[in-house]
Amino acid sequence: MANTKKHDLHSIERGEGTPLVLLHGFPFDHALWKEQLHGVASKGARIIALDLPGFGRSNPLDGDEATMDAYADAIAEWAEKEGLEKFVLAGHSMGGYIAFAFARRHMEMLSGLILVCTRPGADSDAGKEGRYKLITEVEKRGPQGVVDAMLPKLFAAQTAKERPEIVAETREMVLRQSREGIITAIRSMAERPDSTPGLDAIKVPTLIITGAEDAIIPAPEADGLLSSIPHAKHVSIKGGGHMPMLENPNAFNKALKAFIRTL
Ligand code: MLT
Repeated sequence: MANTKKHDLHSIERGEGTPLVLLHGFPFDHALWKEQLHGVASKGARIIALDLPGFGRSNPLDGDEATMDAYADAIAEWAEKEGLEKFVLAGHSMGGYIAFAFARRHMEMLSGLILVCTRPGADSDAGKEGRYKLITEVEKRGPQGVVDAMLPKLFAAQTAKERPEIVAETREMVLRQSREGIITAIRSMAERPDSTPGLDAIKVPTLIITGAEDAIIPAPEADGLLSSIPHAKHVSIKGGGHMPMLENPNAFNKALKAFIRTL
């Protein structure tokens, strides 16, 4: 493991049975998964929602550790400490980028993979440039800079219009994150490698979930995942933008439960 420092990660869990570790996207925390903690946890499924390093109540990575590999290693170290030998790993968006790194480095710990609204490719030059502009914005204005850049794109049109409470909760979730955690995550996303070449080595059962109206990672990007990962299945969530776990939790939880039953 690249990283020998003991990472103290905060998590919330419910239920017992097949362990399912949930990694939130950028720049959220474990509360992203509140509907899954309540709706999926049962006798058959132990749902563990983590705060990634630098988010929620988890310690940040060191500044010079800004890589997806460092996040993945911190999670592997945490899982070992928790006595979790094998588990299903679910990653939303940036959590998915980390899940690709985790699969590359710690495949033996995985019994399944769930990739939510994520993509395997690296950033384009223009995408990278946008990330570094956003870092400057966060240095000046804190998390409000991310709210202004991202919030309008996160939700399906109907959610934005009819579910103001979800939009408000998400805004609060972003505003409570630290500048340091946000900046390290942006830098790690900008510099992440292309995970496409390793996809055919993912041999565990894999579920790909997309939001039918995701404006940040448009659903067709899942097609590449589906054709490259040997045992992958795809579910598209109706009425979901980039946040389908909150926007249509019934459909989302149904897909998770059906997948867990097949393991
Ligand atoms: C996320 O939700 O984690 C981000 O939108 C991912 C990204 O900016 O690439």
